[in-house]
Amino acid sequence: LHISFVKLSRGYKYSTRQQNSLIKGVYPASPSSWLFVAIGILATMYMQSDPSMGLITKIQQHLPLRVHNGNVTLVFSTLLWLSLILALRFCLKLLLSYHQWMFEKHGRMSNTTKVWVPLVRLLSSRKPLLYSYQSSLPHLPVPAIQDTVSRYLESVRPLLTDPEFKRMSDLANEFESNLGNRLQRYLKLKALWATNYVSDWWEEYVYLRSRGPIMVNSNYYGMDFLYVTPTSVQAARAGNTITALLLYRRKVNREELKPSRVPGTVIPLCAAQCERMFNTTRTPGVETDVLQHWLDSEFVAVYHRGRYFRLWVYRAGRLLSPREIEDQIQRILDDASPPLPGEEKLGALTAGDRIPWAQMRKQYFSSGVNKRSLDIIERAAFFVTLDDEEQGMRGDDPEGNLDRYAKSLLHGKCYDRWFDKSFSVVIYKNGKSGLNAEHSWADAPTVAHLWEYTLATDAFQLGYTEDGHCKGDVEPSLPQPQRLVWNIPAEVQAQVSSSLAVAQALADDVDCHVFPFREFGKGRIKKCRVSPDAFIQISLQLAYYRDRGGFCLTYEASMTRLFREGRTETVRSCSNESCAFITALESGETEEECRRLFQLASERHQNLYRMAMTGAGIDRHLFCLYVVSKYLGVESPFLKEVLSEPWRLSTSQTPVQQMNLFDLKNHPDFISLGGGFGPVADDGYGVSYIIVGEDMVNFHVSSKYSCSQTVSNVSVIQTQKARMFILALSILKCWFYAD
Ligand SMILES: *[C@@H]1O[C@H](CO)[C@@H](O)[C@H](O)[C@H]1NC(C)=O
Ligand SMILES: *[C@@H]1O[C@H](CO)[C@@H](O)[C@H](O)[C@H]1NC(C)=O
Ligand SMILES: *[C@@H]1O[C@H](CO)[C@@H](O)[C@H](O)[C@H]1NC(C)=O
Ligand SMILES: *[C@@H]1O[C@H](CO)[C@@H](O)[C@H](O)[C@H]1NC(C)=O
Ligand SMILES: *[C@@H]1O[C@H](CO)[C@@H](O)[C@H](O)[C@H]1NC(C)=O
Repeated sequence: LHISFVKLSRGYKYSTRQQNSLIKGVYPASPSSWLFVAIGILATMYMQSDPSMGLITKIQQHLPLRVHNGNVTLVFSTLLWLSLILALRFCLKLLLSYHQWMFEKHGRMSNTTKVWVPLVRLLSSRKPLLYSYQSSLPHLPVPAIQDTVSRYLESVRPLLTDPEFKRMSDLANEFESNLGNRLQRYLKLKALWATNYVSDWWEEYVYLRSRGPIMVNSNYYGMDFLYVTPTSVQAARAGNTITALLLYRRKVNREELKPSRVPGTVIPLCAAQCERMFNTTRTPGVETDVLQHWLDSEFVAVYHRGRYFRLWVYRAGRLLSPREIEDQIQRILDDASPPLPGEEKLGALTAGDRIPWAQMRKQYFSSGVNKRSLDIIERAAFFVTLDDEEQGMRGDDPEGNLDRYAKSLLHGKCYDRWFDKSFSVVIYKNGKSGLNAEHSWADAPTVAHLWEYTLATDAFQLGYTEDGHCKGDVEPSLPQPQRLVWNIPAEVQAQVSSSLAVAQALADDVDCHVFPFREFGKGRIKKCRVSPDAFIQISLQLAYYRDRGGFCLTYEASMTRLFREGRTETVRSCSNESCAFITALESGETEEECRRLFQLASERHQNLYRMAMTGAGIDRHLFCLYVVSKYLGVESPFLKEVLSEPWRLSTSQTPVQQMNLFDLKNHPDFISLGGGFGPVADDGYGVSYIIVGEDMVNFHVSSKYSCSQTVSNVSVIQTQKARMFILALSILKCWFYAD
């Protein structure tokens, strides 16, 4: 019976896949439209008129066999139908390549846009599957080299003195007129055959080839609700969270998830990043890591108190109920067996440098029990840590505890998360949850989408019984979760210790500060007709200016998912205009003048953001030119300098994408805290923020204790930093709402 069930469910999976690829393959038409075309043609044939204008008879004459007239007609209608689909898709692609609408103000649409909007609606509104739009998405264009260079120079103008700028301009002009053109030709050649001229190199050179620890440097985290914990029972929280994640996985596999769109429009965004969300790990290599993905994975890997377990989440093709998963997790929590020698801190290998881990993996984990156990972790749907600590905004020191919570999600004890997995979920002893995501397979918005769904499904759909347990039936004879077996030799244990030392030093150096800002939010900012993102970016620069007495190269992540397989682009959000505003504000210019400059700065920021989104950025193009120069073995002093400039302020907004899942009216406390990441430069800040509802912005600020430019007294830094950022926002607010 078991086997036939499995077969049935496999059969089901197979047929839905076939079905989906048909539906996707003919998008924007539907499979049933074939019937219409065929019937239409047959009907006209019947009426003695030939809609093919002689083509059908011609086809018939050229066939070697005598084929029935009706059959030829059917073939003809199919061909006609297929070419109609191709034509529709081509039109959709053309329409989606138009981006001018983004630069137009509300109510001042150009005539082109006025025609364009209904056409896009018409072609893209049929109910799509997750990947339906993929083949209609435009390719990311390669900008002209002059454009990129002049945008670059414009972006560094406010950061350089006149002689420095002169030097940089000379370098840039020299590059533009000589080597640049040659590199550009190769890059254009690549753009012809590659789906996206940036993404494969970006994934490889920025993420997979980096040899330092990925913990803190590359992985990032997502947090639970701020004020509430839906249950304080650890096993129950794990039960619902794991169920919700698996429900999301099912939606991805069946392509039932709706493709993301540019907020407030029908413009689809690329969905390629969903493909490697589950069943995925990053495996270390000596020169480069690789992302591995499995098509089959019916279990999760669980870590608790130094031991690893495999937990099957399906039983005879049926997803376990949340209550069953809770019970299984409880069995793991109740298991008192001690870790095997070397097992407890094994995860530190994934937190330290990559090369030693690659060597250890090859030598000691490629056969026998170690291979079997490592396979289970790597092939798991995802990784779960049952943490022994309590976390969240709680206790006598809620603010300090919030910071410790962030640190715990970012690096934990450096060995109790599996940093290589596409993501690890952490469930704390008091029921708080969170996740740590690896960065190479996708960017934060994709993970945030998954996490929003998980939090909302956990709290509102699945829910808990009155005593805080999961709901659902329980089959009594579930097998015990399987303890993984290891045979860790002394050499590996020694490497675990040194990897741990590297990771621990890195972790100890990270200063995290998380704070909800509740004085005002998106609502008030929008009332003043300013983009909330521009407002926050300008205030971050003001904060930095007050902290360090100057401006710095500022990185703001934006996405290029309007294009196929697009990932991110940098908005260099410190602009001539923002500096002009801050300088004026700090030197006590008149309010009217400040207001005018602020307006200019915010418009400029929005423009930069839109340019980045529509493929007219600076940094990805220069990055790719740099990669080409490396392939050709030529040195470019200009590119070398550009790529080594530090980003002292690295910022990112986490977009809220599914506000409809949350009900802030009836459940105002179920507010997500967003997530954060480590500082990019040793002497810089990492700032992540999420704009929640109308009245709140949550900030996650990180920096390094070892940085000489910050005070080295821990207790002072944190409060100072918080004060600095809140102050900046407040200054802007006071000034902004002065009337
Ligand atoms: C064409 O269709 C007829 C029925 O309309 C069928 O008998 C015949 O086998 C078909 N095939 C070919 C190659 O003609
Ligand atoms: C747009 O169309 C309107 C009338 O529909 C016309 O008056 C106007 O000149 C057009 N604008 C442009 C820029 O073509
Ligand atoms: C991951 O594994 C599950 C369970 O075996 C499978 O159904 C699914 O298709 C896999 N997911 C992907 C994206 O390959
Ligand atoms: C930048 O600002 C400086 C001084 O405020 C000005 O001289 C310069 O023309 C501006 N550059 C651009 C590209 O706007
Ligand atoms: C750090 O700052 C706090 C508060 O200002 C002060 O009480 C403490 O003595 C300082 N610690 C050190 C090591 O300087």
